[in-house]
Amino acid sequence: MGSDSTLVYSRRFRVKTIEAARLRASFAEDVRQGLSARSKRLSPRYFYDDQGSQLFERITELPEYYLTRTETETLRRHVGAMLQGVDAETALVELGSGSSTKTRLIFDAFLQRSATLHYLPVDISKTMLVQSCRTLLKEYEALEITGYVARYEEALAAIGQAELGRKLIFFLGSSIGNLEPHQARDFLARLAGAMSADDAAIIGFDAQKEVRLLEAAYNDAQGVTAAFNLNLLRRINRELAANFDLEAFAHYAPYNIQEGRIEMHLVSTREQLVTIGTMGQQVALRRGESIHTENSYKYTRAQIQDLAESAGLRLDRTWTDAGEMFFLCRFLLA
Ligand code: AVJ
Repeated sequence: MGSDSTLVYSRRFRVKTIEAARLRASFAEDVRQGLSARSKRLSPRYFYDDQGSQLFERITELPEYYLTRTETETLRRHVGAMLQGVDAETALVELGSGSSTKTRLIFDAFLQRSATLHYLPVDISKTMLVQSCRTLLKEYEALEITGYVARYEEALAAIGQAELGRKLIFFLGSSIGNLEPHQARDFLARLAGAMSADDAAIIGFDAQKEVRLLEAAYNDAQGVTAAFNLNLLRRINRELAANFDLEAFAHYAPYNIQEGRIEMHLVSTREQLVTIGTMGQQVALRRGESIHTENSYKYTRAQIQDLAESAGLRLDRTWTDAGEMFFLCRFLLA
């Protein structure tokens, strides 16, 4: 079993850290496994070191990357309806530290309906969580924060058992797109398990659309997404004493129509041997061989509906933009 702890920063700010009961695989072990497999792969969760997080921020501002902009606009337009029924007893849960712009939009609308706000952000990174909470606490006097440094599974279990009033749970940014469909179903089932009859969850899904638009969003003209993808190799070089030659890999991000997902790959442009110090071994790559680094699933309304049903949730309402590029969906217990 792991050990849980609560750190009280101030009267308005406490952070609960939940250690996973199961041993969390380390970066080194995940990389070793992924690069020893017949089809080489690396997990997208490792994109987000300091540089990777900065590159992702730049991605969200790219003209081709419509996701963040579109979701933010739909949120801005409909946040009132999304917060319908909110009162002083409502707890606002946010999975993932989220972008500060979207969080502030929700706070401002919330505080028009209630004088106080209990915010429960969940993030795997303690540094990110504490940093963003400190900024928010300075800005919003009515705010009380219980942060969770945990994986979503454990945080949802803890939040489900906490003595809270009505809960409104946000999971924005199409982060759910990184989950395989069966994982997305499991995730929603856990979410359902943490919800009571009056609670609601609002989740952002990127919509299936023209391939040209999807591929442009992951193959931007400035090459920021390519740099974001390649940064994973730079991180492995630095943290795992490896010698990937970043010049010998190409960013490749096609839309897989059958699977309904953008795939990101790093393709070896020549036959090469890479040494990974911590693995104590070499990895051979053929010319044209790929390392699969990310899947980003795109959804239809029908798929979201099916996903909800299979997880014991009801898709209660969907908000979208004029082009139906991005969906914000509200789920209630079935
Ligand atoms: C953070 C998972 C929503 O899938 O669009 C952006 C990550 N990868 N560009 C996405 C990402 C390449 C992003 N998510």
